[in-house]
Order: sequence, then structure tokens, then C-alpha cells
Amino acid sequence: MSFPVEFARNQWYVAAYGSEITRDLFPRTILGEALVFYRTRAGQVIALSDRCVHRRFPLSESNLDGDNIVCGYHGFTYDPTGTCVAVPGQKRIPRTARVPAYQVVEQDSFVWVWIGEPEKADPALIPRAPWLSDPGYTTVYGMEPLRAPYGLLVDNLLDLSHETYLHGGYIGTPEVAATPIRTTVDEERQIVYVSRHMDDAACPPFYSESTGITGRIVRWQDIEFHPPCLYLLHSRVAPVGVLPREDGTDPDGFHVEVVYAITPETENSTHDFWAVARDFALDDTRVSDFLRESNRTVVLQDVVALNKLAEVLATERDRYQELSINIDTGGLAARRLIEAQIAQAGGAQAGGAQGGGVRAGQGRAPVGGRS
Ligand code: FES
Ligand SMILES: [Fe+2]
Repeated sequence: MSFPVEFARNQWYVAAYGSEITRDLFPRTILGEALVFYRTRAGQVIALSDRCVHRRFPLSESNLDGDNIVCGYHGFTYDPTGTCVAVPGQKRIPRTARVPAYQVVEQDSFVWVWIGEPEKADPALIPRAPWLSDPGYTTVYGMEPLRAPYGLLVDNLLDLSHETYLHGGYIGTPEVAATPIRTTVDEERQIVYVSRHMDDAACPPFYSESTGITGRIVRWQDIEFHPPCLYLLHSRVAPVGVLPREDGTDPDGFHVEVVYAITPETENSTHDFWAVARDFALDDTRVSDFLRESNRTVVLQDVVALNKLAEVLATERDRYQELSINIDTGGLAARRLIEAQIAQAGGAQAGGAQGGGVRAGQGRAPVGGRS
């Protein structure tokens, strides 16, 4: 099964960091829809279609008047619900003069948006990344544009064995690719888990520089992917011999929560949101600067590789036959769940299907066993 080429529309997607949305009009395309974002004077985030209903001028190139947008071309004026409340030269406002408004939820430093059928939007289904706004963690973050379909980034993040080859000298060491993974799927909650526990590994610069550990480490990578958008990597490092306690608590390890939000911009481009939250050296700006720079470098290594991959895949004349191995079990499970989300919504563009909710299943089942 190759990666779905359609979008799961009846899902929540990260559109922006909350810090990106201000009293300035902010354009961003999500799932092929051009949107404009802004904050009302009360601080609420608004998302409207970025095309004026009159002659399609981008509203993001227009002006705010209080909480309304005044089109920068001929002055059609829209309130935060997208309803046109004034047109030039006449009192009567055409009944159809409105632009679509999209539901947004601001949570865990992200602005989530719902592009699909409005009545299916349930904010309770938005997966959480609580570390990003937890005072017990310090977070660095960014977003890099990717000129590749979002499926390539899902594949990339679900299989971290590539760290050894693509990110050597930053986060990759030989033990990552050499250590088997365990993949499980929670069918009911629609979550893919991929775990790789290294009990005696070299410490890559990303962790030695930030934690001060000089010798070999216990390094655990526990991925939790909530398709289609939110990817969490629970990372634990500690000097060899420092193990979590019997009761499961782990006060002596260093914990890094690596969060990605994978949001399709168009069929062939993706917003690659990344954040790194840590529970140590909370006030150390040198560590923050280092982790920001390192992670951005790592993300850009992926961006260069995936842009190249997208370029060569576009030259394939026929649908190619992939060859998958054990390291791919997480990515394949993710594809299957995203396919199901697309099917539930009745396909990429269709409305009116059953969509939305989670599927019943048999709980958390192993996929492909230990590789
Ligand atoms: S295009 Fe917006 S008012 Fe004419
Ligand atoms: Fe990577």
C-alpha cells in the first residue's frame, strides 16, 4: 500500500503557532484552502477564506478595521463570521456576500483548524501536546516549508532508523539503526506507537551538549503518532546504569518531548512544524539556542532529502513497487489509519458521508512483532 494521495479532510490540523497570529492579517494555505488568520481585539483567533467574494482579492492583503476585514481592492467588509457587512456605493448587501469561516481551537501553543464538514468538528478529538505550554518544560520551536507531499514526512518521522544515516553528527548514532523497534496500534483511539529502547548507546551531540553527559547512554525513543497531524517523540536519555525506578517514575533521566505537526499545504507541499520541549536546564539560554539550532539543522536535512525524493518520485512513469521491511511497520500502520480516515469522510473532496469519529477496534495490537 503506497501512501494515500488524498487528504483526510474531517480531521483537525495545526495551522500555526498561536504566537504567529496577531492583529496582522496572516495568510496560510491548509489542505489546498487559502486561509487568512487574525486575532480579534479580544484575542480570539479567526480563520476565514482568503478570497474576497467580489473579485477574489486576497483578504490577507487587505486591512483590519476593528474586528472586521476591509477588502483592499473595493472595500467589501467582512465580520469575524465571514458575513459581509458593508459594500461600497449601495446600502443593499447581496444575500450571498459571505466568505467561509473555519472553526479554530487554540491549544498547547498551536492553532488547530477544521477544514472538513463543519458539523463534524469536535474539539474534544484534538490530540494533546501539553509540554509545549507547561512551565515545567522549556520549548524551542519552528516551522520549515517542505516541497513534498505530507506522506513523505509521515514516513520519515515514523522510521527513525534514518537518523543514523541522514543525521549523523547531530542525533544519529549506529545504535539507532541497529536496534529493533516494536510497533503497536491502538485501533480504537487511532494511535500508532513505535518504540526503540537502546540500553547502551553512544551519546550524539544533540544530547551530550544539552545534558552534559560525557559517556554512553540509555536512550529510549517512544513515538506516538495521532494521524493525520500530530507526532510525539517521547525521548529519554540517561547515563548507562541510570534506570527508571520500579514504580515507573524516572526522576534521574533527561526527558525531551519532540513534537511535530504535519499539515498538508497542497498535494505537493507540507508545513513541517517542529518543537523540542525539555525538562532540564530550563533557564539556560545556551541550551535553548543550541537545541533550536540543532533541531532546525536536522529538520532541514530531512527537508533537503524529502524535496529531492519528491522530485525523483515525480519523474516515475508508472506507479513504483515499494519494498518495505521491519523498520517500515510504523509508517505502514500510519498509512492504513489515514486511508481509513479518508474513507470515513467519503474521499478527499466529498461531503455528506459518515465521517468524523474513531473506529471501534480491538485495542492495542502489535504490528509485525519485534523486528
Ligand atoms: S475584490 Fe474585494 S471588494 Fe472587490
Ligand atoms: Fe529526520
